[in-house]
Amino acid sequence: MRIAINDITISYSDEGKNGTPVIIFIHGFPFNKSMWNLQVKELKDNYRVISYDIRGHGNSDAGNGDFSIELFVKDLLSLMDALKIDKTVLCGLSMGGYIALKAIENHPERFDALILSDTHCIADTSEVKEKRMKAIESIRNSGIEKYADESIKNLFAPESFTTREEEIAVVRKMIVKTAKESLCKTLLALSVRKETCSKLAEIKVPVLIMVGKEDKITPPAAAQLMHEKIKNSFLNIIEHAGHLSNLENPGDFNEHLKKFVASVY
Ligand code: MLT
Repeated sequence: MRIAINDITISYSDEGKNGTPVIIFIHGFPFNKSMWNLQVKELKDNYRVISYDIRGHGNSDAGNGDFSIELFVKDLLSLMDALKIDKTVLCGLSMGGYIALKAIENHPERFDALILSDTHCIADTSEVKEKRMKAIESIRNSGIEKYADESIKNLFAPESFTTREEEIAVVRKMIVKTAKESLCKTLLALSVRKETCSKLAEIKVPVLIMVGKEDKITPPAAAQLMHEKIKNSFLNIIEHAGHLSNLENPGDFNEHLKKFVASVY
């Protein structure tokens, strides 16, 4: 389905029953809403489950201007307004988590609970910023295929390269299908994003934090730090998973997810 919000059209999926509690899923970079298919399937019998493509990703338009986490939050709130969703549980993976943390910082009244998966609250270090600039250069000079191959190496747990070949191929396709310009604009947006660690103590709603045991990008120690700062939070380390824990170990991920959402409503 598609809906016009702000200066763009967003592609989204809206499943389950109207009138049941809402859960919105936000994907990571540079993926799209299909990365949540297994979670949507698991929850749609009992909840209204929405996933959408962030601006410039999947089938959503990019618009003309620069990207920022604040703009992605504005899109999320506009999507909620357009779909007449007053309050929701918000689940974000990695960049989706950055958006979720910024959204609850600025609009706490719109969220009943958060699920933060494979994400962290810190801003980019100068080393990470430099890597992002090199990635932009590489995308512009050598193309997306090479960028996708380099990215894949860091996204998955070592064992997933033999046990999750299909998932890896699907993720590679998601990266390759993202427009060059959107990749570069998002990398820039990520590099200048603000930290949210100093705001975590203000979060009043329940928060489930999950992270792949082998996550190299947002490691378990970063999840532990958020857990310590958010009063009403629960932490689960997902075995047999790297940065994409919902795809690498959907069994454990979905078990924790369902239990948590049931405890909220
Ligand atoms: C993601 O999965 O969204 C990215 O790893 C986020 C990032 O690069 O900071």
